[in-house]
Amino acid sequence: MALYMYKRAEHQKLYNKTTLKNLKNPDMQMMIMILLLCSVIITILFFTKGGKSNTPSSPPSLPLIGNLHQLGHHPHRSLCFLSHRYGPLMLLHFGSVPVLVVSSMEAAKEVLKTHDRVFASRPRSKIFQKFLYDGQDVAAAPYGEYWRQMKSVCVLHLLSNKMVRSFGNVREEEMSLMMEKIRKASSLPVNLSELLANLTNDVICRVALGRKYGCETDFKELMERLTRLLGVFSVGTYVPWLAWIDWIRGLDSQLEKLRNDVDEFLERVLQDHEDGDRGDRTDFVDVLLKIQREKSVGFDIDRVSIKAIILDVFVGGTDTSYTLMEWVMLGVFKAPKTNVVV
Ligand code: HEM
Repeated sequence: MALYMYKRAEHQKLYNKTTLKNLKNPDMQMMIMILLLCSVIITILFFTKGGKSNTPSSPPSLPLIGNLHQLGHHPHRSLCFLSHRYGPLMLLHFGSVPVLVVSSMEAAKEVLKTHDRVFASRPRSKIFQKFLYDGQDVAAAPYGEYWRQMKSVCVLHLLSNKMVRSFGNVREEEMSLMMEKIRKASSLPVNLSELLANLTNDVICRVALGRKYGCETDFKELMERLTRLLGVFSVGTYVPWLAWIDWIRGLDSQLEKLRNDVDEFLERVLQDHEDGDRGDRTDFVDVLLKIQREKSVGFDIDRVSIKAIILDVFVGGTDTSYTLMEWVMLGVFKAPKTNVVV
């Protein structure tokens, strides 16, 4: 043991001597200086980059799921709370998908006006892609030539002032029918949400498809399934390597089945329009089929695009319209003075 201690002490002395000797060596000194300088430069660069970085601030996130766990049951409230803490531009991660939360007027203007092209495409969602024919519609199509062409068809041929006015009688008739139902209910309570949803659905059906499908239970059921599945959280969209969870919980098969059912329905509608004598009736399907036949817009519009646009009209026009009416009615009921003005 003593021998070992002695040898170790000797070894240490020798080591110290050689190290000191090395340190006195000018080459060695130069090398250490360079190493020190490099580490100082790297440290300064690292911290300077962090300070001046343009990346918006983010709440701490968890591996794999990112900030998903912070959304809670009321995502709008959770996001509002987080943005008070992290500022009007806040970067979150929903799994592997970066999400920029914009919550001030100035920042919204930057995103929607100044840099609108950068943000023009919607994020890819498995569910949207599945239903909206892989982005062959307007809403889910990525920003580019195809989107521009489809958008111009919608704006110029379907949603023009002339078209909107031409369906004035449809809106009036459906509105009268709804008022009649309310009148008939007399003093009994009515479910206004249901009435407004049916009204919107009937108007859009007549405008887009040429007739009402509201009474047909399979159509109603189809729309309910569509609305429900469009709001489902798909794990695979945000954490791609966990996409198998969607398969196990049956989401993939539900999506596939609904996509086929919706496509079958739209195909039937198109077929009815092509087979029947339409007279001078002109709904959205008629207009789109005419554009396709006459190649009047300078580019080819195929059958899938027609079905995708019609589906957009339902997805974009139904929920939005009746939800707005519901809120307006709520505002009117809560402020009786407004009631008088209305
Ligand atoms: C009160 C009712 C409505 C509200 C609040 C509303 C709201 C919106 C919003 C916020 C957008 C996104 C705009 C963007 O990303 O730039 C949008 C897009 C769209 N809406 Fe509406 N909408 C309503 C009614 C309708 C109706 C009645 C239709 C069809 C007849 C419709 C069809 C569309 C389509 C096709 C898009 C996609 C446009 C694109 O991506 O370029 N919407 N809507």
